[in-house]
Amino acid sequence: MVKLFERAQQNISHQKLLLAVAGALVLLYAGTLYVMARQQTSPTKVSNASEVGRNLLGEQWSYLPGATHQNNNLTIQPSRLAIVEQDGSDGQPSPPINLFGTYLEHTGNFGVNATVANMRGEAALQLYDQPPIIADEFRIERKSVRVVLHQSELHVSIWDGSKQEPVIVRSWPSKIRPTNNLAIRYDGKQLTLSVNDHEFEALDINNLFGSKKIWFGFDATDNWTLARLSAYPLDRGRVKAIDSSKMRVIEKYPDGLQRLAAKARDGFNIGAAVALGPAVSDPGYAKLAFGGNFGSLTPENALKWQFVHPQPNTYTFQEGDALVALAQAHGMSMHGHTLVFGEANPRWVRDLPTTTPADKEKVKQIMADHISTVVEHYKGKVASWDVVNEPLADYDNFNPDDNHTLRRHTWYQAMGESYIAAAFHAARKADPDTKLFINEYGLEEDGERWDAFLSLMKELKSQGVPIDGVGFQAHVYEPADHINPAVLRRHIQELGKLGLVSRISEIDVYGYEGSNIQAQQYTNVLKVCLSELSCVSYTTWGISDRYNAYKEDNGKIAYGQDFLWSKDLQATPAVAALQSALKQQPKN
Ligand code: XIL
Repeated sequence: MVKLFERAQQNISHQKLLLAVAGALVLLYAGTLYVMARQQTSPTKVSNASEVGRNLLGEQWSYLPGATHQNNNLTIQPSRLAIVEQDGSDGQPSPPINLFGTYLEHTGNFGVNATVANMRGEAALQLYDQPPIIADEFRIERKSVRVVLHQSELHVSIWDGSKQEPVIVRSWPSKIRPTNNLAIRYDGKQLTLSVNDHEFEALDINNLFGSKKIWFGFDATDNWTLARLSAYPLDRGRVKAIDSSKMRVIEKYPDGLQRLAAKARDGFNIGAAVALGPAVSDPGYAKLAFGGNFGSLTPENALKWQFVHPQPNTYTFQEGDALVALAQAHGMSMHGHTLVFGEANPRWVRDLPTTTPADKEKVKQIMADHISTVVEHYKGKVASWDVVNEPLADYDNFNPDDNHTLRRHTWYQAMGESYIAAAFHAARKADPDTKLFINEYGLEEDGERWDAFLSLMKELKSQGVPIDGVGFQAHVYEPADHINPAVLRRHIQELGKLGLVSRISEIDVYGYEGSNIQAQQYTNVLKVCLSELSCVSYTTWGISDRYNAYKEDNGKIAYGQDFLWSKDLQATPAVAALQSALKQQPKN
């Protein structure tokens, strides 16, 4: 049998030999231990047990956002990653996690020891049972333990996955020094923390680490150094360090959508928006994403401004880099999303003033710098970019009579319509070979909005703006969104006449229970795109409804039924419908 999900695995801390050595060490240092144990509030010794585990900092840590990995040290910088609400109010902190690199697999109970050095501000270490689900306006916290060393206190917060707030929050006074030994031990029922051999009262938490995996997260208010990190099993369990950056999906579905697409039309790509968390932590998702269904990958959120440029002088490319690496390893091309957008901008961008000419000039400069830095970073790795995303005003505000057809975000306020041309010129300059797109929703239907869009395209083309194509988001969010294939085809053709290619960039279709409208919508759009040579690719906005989370008006988190695979990763009828559409397409 071919291996579906192959990972480089290294046993680290549980080999018999090491246990024997540990045993010997314990005996050797029994005297010392006894003295130290007497100074503790509880008789259980935690920290020295780590000596059975080697330093995990020799492993893969180079994709941890906001960190530098050098000489077996990890310098944690304050990334201030946060997710801003779409309405502009302050969002949630989204501290970095080492998703693409070292994590642990364990059989049950374990301990983790960390040497937290060179502390000047707060130092946080978080152990995640499952990575959070990241969306634009929020991240869904699953089970995790966050430990913060803070001046003279130790804080702990514990999330149990049942709600967004931690279910346990405790702090204790503690002697925090510039360098500290932090020990965390989990015995299946209780979590015990100790700092510099001072052990705190155990906390009751049942079954917190049920996934048998642990992902590491770190955070800072000022730089600190993780000088050592080790893990060890409790009882007769095992702990292994795994490097998720070596994850490869080997077996390809014989009827994978991309495999069929390649037969239907040379160079035609079926793509998907992908998130790093599920790609590395959920083998079922990884298999769907990398097993031959998709030939192109769009980062769902990782390259939006707030994720990649959280502070004026901080770029966090690591998650985008990880997705590039995964795409390359699986023979997929990469579509960058997105450089200039009115949403998903961090606080510092939203707060930029746009009143005076000097303000406006500064915003212009910031946009140009962002584009050239990001596009140059991915030069040769990203085949195409959404340079400008959703330039048109929403239906509610749209008013051609009032000359209100464009979205009035920071970029527009500072530069008027010229921000669009400026953005494309900057992107072209940074990478002459990548294809440059403008991406918008609702372009599939006739009406004032489409008319305004088409005249904008004519104008940009006549001005010589280096724009290669248009992304039709093709979201079908409710019955009224029903896409008419004839209208879509005409729009693709009209853009083609201007010398613009088209791509279906974000299709997802609201699931109508008990009907096959969803399958039809997905398929009708594919058929139009496949049969129009200027329509170059078809990307779905997600893979499985397991990660299709959104916030309801009352703040509750719900899951949609829009994607090709259900919450339990079963193919919806739309998959078979797309497969047969691809098989029927005469090769042209
Ligand atoms: C979506 C993300 O998929 C969600 O995780 C987030 O909650 C909202 O944004 N048009 C776009 C995408 O161009 O960036 C949006 O992505 C979906 C609509």
